[in-house]
Amino acid sequence: MSEAVSRRCAMRLLGAMGVALGTGGCVAAVPPGGLPRTAPATAAAAPAEAPPGATARIDALLERLTLEEKTTLLHGGRDPAPLGQAGYLPGVPRLGIPALRLADGPAGVRVAEPATALPAPVMLASAFDPALAREYGRVVGREGRALGQDVLLSPMANLIRTPYAGRNFETFAEDPRLTADLVAEMVRGIQDEGLIATVKHFALGNQEQGRDTVDVVAAEQTLHETELRGFEAAVGAGAGAVMGAYNKVNGTYACENKPLLDELLRGQWGFGGWVMSDWDAAHSTVAAIGAGLDMEMPGGTHFGGPLQEAVRGGSVRVDAVDLAVRRILATMDRFGLLAAHPPARPARDAAAGARVARRVATAGAVLLHNEHATLPLTGAAARSIAVIGPTGQVPFVSGGGSAHVVPDKALSPLDAIRQRAGNGSTVRHALGEDVYGRPLPANLLTPAAGLDDRRVEAGRNWSHEGEFTLAADDEWTLLVHYAGKRPSVRLDGEELFPVRQGVAEYFAGGLLGRAPDGLAVRRRTLALTAGTHRLAVFAEGGDKGGRFRLRHTTKATRAADLAEAVKTAAAARSVVLFAYEDATEGSDRTSLGLPGGQARLIEAVAAANPRTTVVLNTSSSTTMPWLSRTGAVLQMYYPGQEGAAATADILFGDVDPGGRLTQTFPADEHATPVAGDPLRYPGVGGRQEYTEGIHVGHRWYDAQQVVPLFPFGHGLSYTTWEYEKLSVRPGRDGLRVEFTVRNTGRRKGTEVAQVYVGPSAELKLDQPVRALAGYRRLTLGPGEAQQVVLDVDARTLSSWDPERHAWVLGSGRREVFAGRSSRELHLTAKAVVKSR
Ligand code: BGC
Repeated sequence: MSEAVSRRCAMRLLGAMGVALGTGGCVAAVPPGGLPRTAPATAAAAPAEAPPGATARIDALLERLTLEEKTTLLHGGRDPAPLGQAGYLPGVPRLGIPALRLADGPAGVRVAEPATALPAPVMLASAFDPALAREYGRVVGREGRALGQDVLLSPMANLIRTPYAGRNFETFAEDPRLTADLVAEMVRGIQDEGLIATVKHFALGNQEQGRDTVDVVAAEQTLHETELRGFEAAVGAGAGAVMGAYNKVNGTYACENKPLLDELLRGQWGFGGWVMSDWDAAHSTVAAIGAGLDMEMPGGTHFGGPLQEAVRGGSVRVDAVDLAVRRILATMDRFGLLAAHPPARPARDAAAGARVARRVATAGAVLLHNEHATLPLTGAAARSIAVIGPTGQVPFVSGGGSAHVVPDKALSPLDAIRQRAGNGSTVRHALGEDVYGRPLPANLLTPAAGLDDRRVEAGRNWSHEGEFTLAADDEWTLLVHYAGKRPSVRLDGEELFPVRQGVAEYFAGGLLGRAPDGLAVRRRTLALTAGTHRLAVFAEGGDKGGRFRLRHTTKATRAADLAEAVKTAAAARSVVLFAYEDATEGSDRTSLGLPGGQARLIEAVAAANPRTTVVLNTSSSTTMPWLSRTGAVLQMYYPGQEGAAATADILFGDVDPGGRLTQTFPADEHATPVAGDPLRYPGVGGRQEYTEGIHVGHRWYDAQQVVPLFPFGHGLSYTTWEYEKLSVRPGRDGLRVEFTVRNTGRRKGTEVAQVYVGPSAELKLDQPVRALAGYRRLTLGPGEAQQVVLDVDARTLSSWDPERHAWVLGSGRREVFAGRSSRELHLTAKAVVKSR
């Protein structure tokens, strides 16, 4: 596409910059360009300002930097002393410009050393508590600085648009408003501690399938009212950096997309930090720097030598290079990194990190279902417990991919339950499903070979060739656990664990990808026939030596595990069954059902003991054909290193489950916002469209009148709640909503009161049936009541008008709803929104 054409498209789809206020009947609710340049609705502390003299200091540096030095500031390089972080820039020591280290990520600092593994952001979001997001941000901010980092590659602000997306746990919600609030506070928290936050992946990085090339098409109104809200809020909160997405946006790669980077991000939103590419997401030199990309990561394929050549050859002006350098240096300066005495690095406070991790994991725990008072476990129910499932024994701490964190420590749920149940209680565990396999039976191998825990010395190789004889046809899962180079395992000549290309090889899942002792794990399931097979194993010791073991499961071992689980469940008074789904960056989920034989396991266990609670360590929504057979279902996502203790806190009722769903759970796979329209997801011919328009997430369920399994905002409490006396009147900048929330039960509990607003008839634009307009998290004692006062601001009452390229207020009569979830709204009132 020529630049002229691409610019025209951009104007149409993103909105021209600097467009004036709407005029006539509807008045734009926000300043020119459609965005408050200072802070969004949830503004708290002002972002750090540039220190005095910054411009002169940077001018002086720019004068002294050579072209080669300038470009080293614009792309990643090799770290001579890596700390295990994702990215590094060497700086220019001769001029006092320090190196920059950039670490993931969204759920804690991802370096080689342990750090606080916090609950996944989706769990943080479930608390509906921006103040908690700030605390979470502060933990990562401080730890990032303590662990030698300067930039954090977090938060991820992309919306949960499809339940299949592999990174839904790394992000917050399907709702743009909630996402915006939390992203802003997380940015503030990270930066409060002096670490530079990077909001990612700008924009429309909502899926893993085809992420490197897919062209995501969304109309202007849709963009502004859905995916862009979180990014805009991050900019408003002063984020130092933005990371461009892998995908294309409306025809152009996000990392060379002028309408996005230059016109929208900088022009309309006034972003003053720098834009880096996602890892290997830069595609060009001239187009990318011209579009507003400042830094290529993690190497210099385009912004190293080729950028210098482009400047020398005249296709890139040195001013463009200077501008990019200036943005990076100005941000570093804003964080004190260019000062003669940069801020001292703090020590880690692991205990404080652990406390926040536990608090977030209870605050974000969503009790989805609870029949016959299955939970909390009290009295006899707490004294005889069967814990079932592999993740009852091996804690599922964090998801896979770049958000994976090496935790300080992680207790197993089984131990946490044992500790809490105390002496005099019986707590027994059964695996139910063996995810790491058992040793290969020696009698199947000729000649005999020790294939379980074999060590290979450095510089040596080890091999085995022989027969592998099966008495009957069976479905086998073969697993290799290894440290060092992955051994080659050939069965009848076929390599079972080939090293794949790309991200799928690198990211293997937060649970299944590693054995409890840290060895990497790969699996392969095959239908094997009775008789003799040829097995060949070859392992190289490499420089450091290696270690591996070959393991297996079969139909017979699976049946035995199931039977043992059923027996253990039947013998106990209550059952806590831990189920998992192991999502990771690099691939999308292929089904919304629980993987493997878990549905069968739940059915069988619940049939044996209906007082079964299913604890879900899953990334996003799952379908639950087994729901009605269970007593309770507790959604714990990936709960971080304190997840086991937090799970026990909720199971035993020490803490009320404080989380509410930030994404709708569909009744089945045919009833999701992306079902039946491959253009919507995963895309057709490399193109994917937001054909649902502004109706992302719960808005789609409302617009289509589809009944979900659990609606957005849903979550049970151990106590009962009533909502009373809703009144709505014109407020300072929109509407003031007041109502009373009463704890009508006999226990202290936590409620997330929610307010939604209906469309304006005066606005001739597509609008949600109900948009989330506000929420308040409250903890009340038995019988206590609290009056909630929520101001619904003008932005929330506005829609983006693609003709005016501005927000326009939805004036006139609007319906306001208050209640416990997007589908449990007992109070309604009407109010007139006046245009000013
Ligand atoms: C991910 C980013 C991450 C980067 C560095 C990429 O694959 O998309 O989110 O920050 O790697 O690890």
